[in-house]
Amino acid sequence: MLNNKKIAILGVGKGVPEKVLTNSDLEKMVDTSDEWITSRTGIKERRICPDHICCSDLAVEAAEQAMQRSGSAPEDIDMVIVATVTPDYPLPGVAGIVQDRLGLIRAAAFDLKAACSGWVYSAACAFGFIRSGLYKRILVIGVDVLSRIANWHDRSTCVLFGDGCGAAVIGEHEGEYGIIDFDLGADGSGSRYLYIPEGGSRTPLTREGLEAGRNKIFMAGQEVFKFAVKIQSETLSKLFRRNNVAPEEVDLFVPHQANIRIIDSSAKRVGIPMDRVFVNLHKYGNTSGASVPLALCEAWEQGRIKKGDLVAVCGFGAGLTWASGIMKWAY
Ligand code: ACO
Repeated sequence: MLNNKKIAILGVGKGVPEKVLTNSDLEKMVDTSDEWITSRTGIKERRICPDHICCSDLAVEAAEQAMQRSGSAPEDIDMVIVATVTPDYPLPGVAGIVQDRLGLIRAAAFDLKAACSGWVYSAACAFGFIRSGLYKRILVIGVDVLSRIANWHDRSTCVLFGDGCGAAVIGEHEGEYGIIDFDLGADGSGSRYLYIPEGGSRTPLTREGLEAGRNKIFMAGQEVFKFAVKIQSETLSKLFRRNNVAPEEVDLFVPHQANIRIIDSSAKRVGIPMDRVFVNLHKYGNTSGASVPLALCEAWEQGRIKKGDLVAVCGFGAGLTWASGIMKWAY
C-alpha cells in the first residue's frame, strides 16, 4: 500500500579524514601550481585517508552522526544504501560491512554505483522504497576514498580528488515539509570519458596495466566539463518545470563539488545567483559519492539551510550519469 506521508531527510552527518593535502603539497608531487589549480578548479586543499582508514570507516562515522541527529536507533533502520566507487573490497559491497558495524540488525544493505551522482540516485531509491510502503527509514551514505584510485603521476586528474563521506537518514515524516521530486538520467555512450581501464571483467588487471596506471582513473576532462555544465542546467530546469518551481524560489542549491567553473556556469544557466549556491570544494576537492551529502551536511551545520527552505541538489559523473532533486527542508 502506497505511503502518502511526507518523506524527508531527518538527519545528516559527515566523516572526513584529518590529513590535509594542500595545493602546495601537490606542487612537490607533480608539475603543477597552486595558481593553476585554484584558477582552473577552485580547489585549495583536499582530505586524504591514511593507509589504515578505508571506505567503511568514513561511512560509519558519518552514519552514526546522521542517526544520532535523526534520533534513530539501530533497530529503526530498514535499509542501508551506500553510494561508492571505492568499497573496502571488490567483493562484497561495503553496505553490509556498515550494517554489521552499526548493528542495524533489521536492515537490508546494498551498494549503488553511479559515481558522483550516486548519493542523489540512492536518495531517490530510498524515497521510492518508502513511498511504496515497503520501508519507513533508510540510511543513505555517499562515500569515496578516491585517493586510492587517483593516478598520483597524472597532474590533470590527481589534483581534483579527495576522500570523504556524507550521510543522511531519510524517512517518514509527520511534519509539513519533505522531499518533492527527483530527476535521474544516464548516457552510457560517454562511459569512456571517465573510467578505470583495467581491473574489471572486460580487461582484468595485468602487470603491464599496473605499471602503466591503467587501474587508476582516466578522464577526458574537457568532455566531462562540457557535459557537466549542460546536464546540470537541463536536469534542474526539467525538475523545476515539472514542479512549478521558479529558480528564484530556491533558497539553496547544493551542487556536486567538482569544479567552481562548472558550478558557476550551471547556476547561471539555471538562474540561481551564486550567493544561494553552497560551495565547499575549496576544502575537499571532488569527493565523488560523498560530494553532495557532505556539502548538504556542512550547509545545515553552518545554518545555511533552515526548516522550510527549498533546497535543490544535483550530481553528475562517470557513467555518464546525472541526478537532481528538490525538497523542503523538514527540520
Ligand atoms: N597543473 C598545471 N597544468 C595542468 C594541470 C595541472 N594540474 N592539468 C592540466 N594542465 C595543463 C594541460 O596539460 C594543458 O596544457 P597544454 O595547453 O600545454 O596542453 C593545460 O593545462 C590546459 O588543460 P585543459 O585540460 O584544457 O584544462 P581545463 O581548463 O579543461 O581544466 C579540468 C582541466 C580541471 C580537469 C577540467 O576539464 C574539469 O574540471 N573537467 C571536469 C572534471 C569533472 O568535473 N569530473 C567530475 C566527475 S568525477 C567522477 O565522477 C569521479
